[in-house]
Amino acid sequence: MFEVVRTLGTLGLIVVHVTAYIRSVQRARQTEIRGTLTAETQLAESVLLLDGRYNLAEMGILEDKSNAQFFYKYLSKVYDQVNRINWTEEMRSEALEWLEFGANDRVLDVGCGTGFGTAGLLEYADNVHALDQSIHQMENAFEKFGKQGQVTFHMGDAERLPFTDNTFDIVWSSGSIEYWPNPIQGLKEIRRVAKPGGQILIVGPDYPSNPILQRAADAIMLFYDKDEADYMFTEAGFVDFHHYIQQASSRSPRAITTVARVPDENIQTHESFAASP
Ligand SMILES: C[S@@+](CC[C@H](N)C(=O)[O-])C[C@H]1O[C@@H](n2cnc3c(N)ncnc32)[C@H](O)[C@@H]1O
Repeated sequence: MFEVVRTLGTLGLIVVHVTAYIRSVQRARQTEIRGTLTAETQLAESVLLLDGRYNLAEMGILEDKSNAQFFYKYLSKVYDQVNRINWTEEMRSEALEWLEFGANDRVLDVGCGTGFGTAGLLEYADNVHALDQSIHQMENAFEKFGKQGQVTFHMGDAERLPFTDNTFDIVWSSGSIEYWPNPIQGLKEIRRVAKPGGQILIVGPDYPSNPILQRAADAIMLFYDKDEADYMFTEAGFVDFHHYIQQASSRSPRAITTVARVPDENIQTHESFAASP
C-alpha cells in the first residue's frame, strides 16, 4: 500500500509540475517551438491511427511533439543524472545481449537523447547513426561521440525517418516510443528503414496494474502492456517478437522491452522521406 501511495504521489507530482510548467510558459513556447517544427512534423501530429481498443487513443501531455521538445530543452541539462535511476547500464547491457550484431552492421538509434543507448550500441557496432527531434538532447550526445566522428547524427522525427527503405541491420529505440503521438506510425517507419530480416529493439514504459496509477500514467504519456505491445508490433508488420519486463530494482518502474524482426520480405506500405546515409 505504501508503495502504491508513494508511486502515485510521484506520478501526481510529475503531472502537476509538468502541466503547470508547460502552461506557465505557453506563450514563449508557441513562438519558440513553432520556429523549430517542420511542416512535416506538424502534419504527422495530426495523424492518430490508434483506436480506443487498447486505451491508447487518448494522448498524454508529453505525446504532443512540441511539448516534448520544450520539455527536453530543459530536462536535457540534467538528463544524464536523473535518467540513470530507472534505466540503468545493467538493463541496457541485458537488452543489448538480446540482439545479434554482425561485423559490418549499420545501426540506428531512434530518440537517442543524450546518447545513453548509443554508447551501448558503440560497444557492438562501428557504423552507428543516431536521431532525435530535440537539438538540446542531441547536442549532449554530439559532445560525447560526434566530435570524434564515432556516430552520425540526424535531427528528425521518429514518425518520418529521413532514410530510404531497407537501410539498417539493427534499429534500437530506448525510452522514446512513449512520446510519439502515433507509435504504430513510428514502428512502421522503423520497419521501413530496417532491412528485410533486420532486428529491432524498443524499450518503453510498462503499463501499471493499479487503476489509479493507470490514470496518472495515461495523463502523461504512452504506457503499454504486453497485449498492447502485441497489437502495435503486429500492426506495424513485425514478426517473431518477444517482450521482456526490465526493472532497475523491485521498487522501480518497469520497462517493457520488445525484440522483433522485420519479415524477410519487407513489403513497404508508405513512402520514404530521404536518401540513404
Ligand atoms: C527518455 S529520452 C531517451 C534517450 C535515450 N534513448 C536513452 O536511452 O537514454 C527520450 C528521447 O526521445 C526523443 N523523442 C521524443 N519524441 C521523438 C520523436 N517523435 N522523434 C525523435 N525523437 C523523439 C526525445 O527528444 C528524447 O531525447
